[in-house]
Amino acid sequence: MYQEVHARMCGIMGYVGPRQAAPLILDGLRRLEYRGYDSAGIAVANGDIHVRKAEGKIGRLASLLETDPLHGTVGIGHTRWATHGVPSDVNAHPHRDPSGRFVVVHNGIIENFHELRERLSAEGHLFESETDTEILAHLVALEYDGDIVAAVRRAVAHAEGAYALVVMTANEPGRIVAVRRVSPLIVGLGDGETFLASDIPAVLQHTRDFLIVEDGELVVVDADGATIEHIEGGRVDRAVMHVDWDAEQAEKGGYEHFMLKEIHEQPAVITETVGGRLDGEGEVWLEDVHFDDAFARAIDRVWITACGTALHAGLVGREIFQRILRLPTAVEYAHEMRYADPLVSAPSLTVAISQSGETADTLAAARLARQKGSRLLALTNVVGSTLSREADDVLYTRAGPEISVASTKAYMAMLIGEYLLALRIGRARGVVDEALSQRVAHGLHLLPAQVEHVLQAENDVAKAAHRIADAQDVYFIGRGLDYAVAMEGSLKLKEISYLHSEAMPAGELKHGTLALVTAGVPVIVVLTQGAVYDKTMSAVQEVKARGATVLAVAYEDDATIGAFADEVLRIPRTDDLLSPVASIVPLQLLAYHVARLRGHDIDQPRNLAKSVTVE
Ligand code: AGP
Repeated sequence: MYQEVHARMCGIMGYVGPRQAAPLILDGLRRLEYRGYDSAGIAVANGDIHVRKAEGKIGRLASLLETDPLHGTVGIGHTRWATHGVPSDVNAHPHRDPSGRFVVVHNGIIENFHELRERLSAEGHLFESETDTEILAHLVALEYDGDIVAAVRRAVAHAEGAYALVVMTANEPGRIVAVRRVSPLIVGLGDGETFLASDIPAVLQHTRDFLIVEDGELVVVDADGATIEHIEGGRVDRAVMHVDWDAEQAEKGGYEHFMLKEIHEQPAVITETVGGRLDGEGEVWLEDVHFDDAFARAIDRVWITACGTALHAGLVGREIFQRILRLPTAVEYAHEMRYADPLVSAPSLTVAISQSGETADTLAAARLARQKGSRLLALTNVVGSTLSREADDVLYTRAGPEISVASTKAYMAMLIGEYLLALRIGRARGVVDEALSQRVAHGLHLLPAQVEHVLQAENDVAKAAHRIADAQDVYFIGRGLDYAVAMEGSLKLKEISYLHSEAMPAGELKHGTLALVTAGVPVIVVLTQGAVYDKTMSAVQEVKARGATVLAVAYEDDATIGAFADEVLRIPRTDDLLSPVASIVPLQLLAYHVARLRGHDIDQPRNLAKSVTVE
């Protein structure tokens, strides 16, 4: 079955047919609203290209269209989740070239944006917006010599990254050209009309017949249907897919819950968070991190502050910073830090981590640290969030909108952000040599495929969930980075399965909690850190001797653990420093499947809110 597994950040909708395009596109964009966005816009071709766009909710765009309607039967539209440039009317899509004859919308990221913009600026091009998208409009227009398909093909040859691009020109009315490089695109086939969208729910009310555009393909859409080709040329035959989902299933990309969909989006989230920021040599560019090398060298301490899952990402961050940078790093619950009169001072760096960028306690702790002279860096998923506006530096996580209350893909992106930040600071401080940099860069580039591999073993995790579903209490143990992952695995389990669960360093067990470990009590051990492997194995033997049911997360080539554990959830071997990225995935799936067996509301667990904006 087709399931959408991309971390989508924006919505796309296009129409060619006999009906007025703008109202249809507006309706399609509304149906993509559930994914989150910060501005919206529509372009219609009718002799010329006419554009209406506005920051904020689709209602603002609808009002604009009421006072100033768009007439025409071919059009494209977009909801934007800001990545390059703040949410604003000017940065909203669609974007035109200077002649106004070409218009584009785009999802995803153009990695060589700066390079392309500099080159075009040097050639005299002027840009209205701060977006990477506008560059594509200029490129297509530059490449145009009478054939829009050839122009798009040549334009995208310059643009590196993971994206979907949709192009329309007043010169060739009646058709739309689009390219998929990773970011999803689908074609909806109607009767004498054709739709193009980033996602099925946008067009489900018009048709149930779809063509799925695959990675590396170009599609030409007109009222009679669509032709798909490889970007480099050569026709592709694609079978029509008939979909019988209802609208709610469609929003979830065919998955039963948003949480499961978001877990499956994680390989794409890694790719997008790393995209354009790290080369094979380990050289790092973090676009909104402004401190210079002198500051990076002067940092005497790192403070990490956050709540919940974001704090658990911080626990991984502490290990990374201490191991890579040899910098003292404290992780503080934001709700504790804000009242603790912490000993924060210059020249320190405070990393405030928050998916939403709106968590009240995290904002308060971050402000306090800044008042005390620390430089504030926001590691957040939401462009323009309060935290991002108040910080000196921002590292956006690019996970796309996260809908499930239980955070998964945002956590994953936070980890990736921390590796990138450690490399950036480490290079400046001279503690990360080229070899280490390359080692981490190489490891990071392998991670999407490795996480995909773990996801493919979901059935094994679903089976293992039966061993936990009826338990009273569950314990998670690990050491170092494995302990950090155990903390997050435990939180995931408790928040959606409502089972009592605790995580602790494996060495802490015998200082008290071991008294609670009796026959059949599940103990989940994360076991990836070679340096402390034997030590953690001693804890495994202790709980096994008391009859515990042991579930282990371990490397595929670990030949020892099988003899001691009742179930082993395997992950591909990674660099031990990077293992949390893969080892959290079976634990997310385990929490999901236990909650499912227990029949809970997985996406909206009781008593919890997605964003805790009050104290
Ligand atoms: C985790 O699954 C929770 N939803 C929760 O712990 C969350 O991580 C916490 O409230 C912090 O939210 P933030 O990242 O938006 O600041």
